Order: sequence, then structure tokens, then C-alpha cells
Amino acid sequence: MKKVLITGGAGFIAHHLVEFLIKNTNWEIISLDRLDYSGNLNRLNDVMNQFSSIQKKRVKIIYHDLKSELNPWIVSDIGHVDYILHLAAGSHVDRSIKFPMEFVMDNVVGTCNILNFAKTINEKKEN
Ligand SMILES: NC(=O)c1ccc[n+]([C@@H]2O[C@H](COP(=O)([O-])OP(=O)(O)OC[C@H]3O[C@@H](n4cnc5c(N)ncnc54)[C@H](O)[C@@H]3O)[C@@H](O)[C@H]2O)c1
Repeated sequence: MKKVLITGGAGFIAHHLVEFLIKNTNWEIISLDRLDYSGNLNRLNDVMNQFSSIQKKRVKIIYHDLKSELNPWIVSDIGHVDYILHLAAGSHVDRSIKFPMEFVMDNVVGTCNILNFAKTINEKKEN
């Protein structure tokens, strides 16, 4: 069974993606999110309500802010993944004009941290 890591899993786009993947695959899903003003676990909860307990068990929630690199505890909590779908982002345009550095940290540094994590997965495969 494939395993996918979805960053920003509690966001608008990603919670629909989680619903789609539960309905259309047998994959295990890990949602990683820091749950800020735009991330809301209730969204995930609302979509999960339609599924059986077996389907619900395919989704695991991890709390992490991607401004920081993924530490060994988070990495071990995630385990091996086959795919990473990176949807964590600062998405509020007006706020990005007011607080640009916050958006550089979330969208540039955060992306770099997830790419570094992806590299470690490939390194493990090669060894
Ligand atoms: N919503 C749209 O119509 C739309 C259209 C095209 C592209 N996109 C893109 O899709 C992506 C997701 O958009 P969205 O509308 O779902 O945004 P959203 O703001 O609803 O969700 C973003 C999620 O990322 C999380 N997040 C932000 N920074 C984080 C960090 N540093 N660490 C961990 N989690 C963090 C937030 O908590 C939130 O749950 C963005 O890149 C956006 O530009 C969105």
C-alpha cells in the first residue's frame, strides 16, 4: 500500500485532496500542518465523518511548522513515504504584502525543508 505525505493537510485545497484520496485509492495518508489561522482540523473532521472507521484509520495527523526542518522525532513519526504533495503555504495575498518575511519563511524556507526531507528518503532507498 502506498503512503502519501500531504503538507498543509488542514488547508482548503488539501482537505479536498484527502477526501479524494480516501475515495479513490487505498493509500495511507499523513497530514502535516501547523494549524495556523488558515489551517483548520475541523475541515478534515467534516470530510472524515462520511467514512468508515477503517477508512478513517488511513489518515494520520502530524503537527509541525515547516519553518523548522523536520527533526528526527517527526521524521520517525512520518516513516517511509512514497509521495509528498506539498500544499502547506502562506496563501493570504493581502497578508503577504503586510508581512512579507512571514511568507518567505513559510513558502521558501518551508519548501526547502520539505525538499531536504524528500532527499533523505531517496538516500535511505539508495543505501
Ligand atoms: N485556494 C485556491 O483556490 C488555490 C488555487 C491555486 C493554487 N493554490 C495553492 O495551493 C496551496 C494551498 O492553498 P490553500 O488555498 O489550500 O491554502 P490554505 O491557506 O487554505 O492552506 C494552507 C495550509 O498550509 C498550512 N501551513 C502554512 N504554513 C505552514 C508551515 N510553515 N508549516 C506547516 N503548515 C503550514 C496552513 O496551516 C494551512 O492549513 C497554496 O500554495 C496556494 O497558493 C490555491
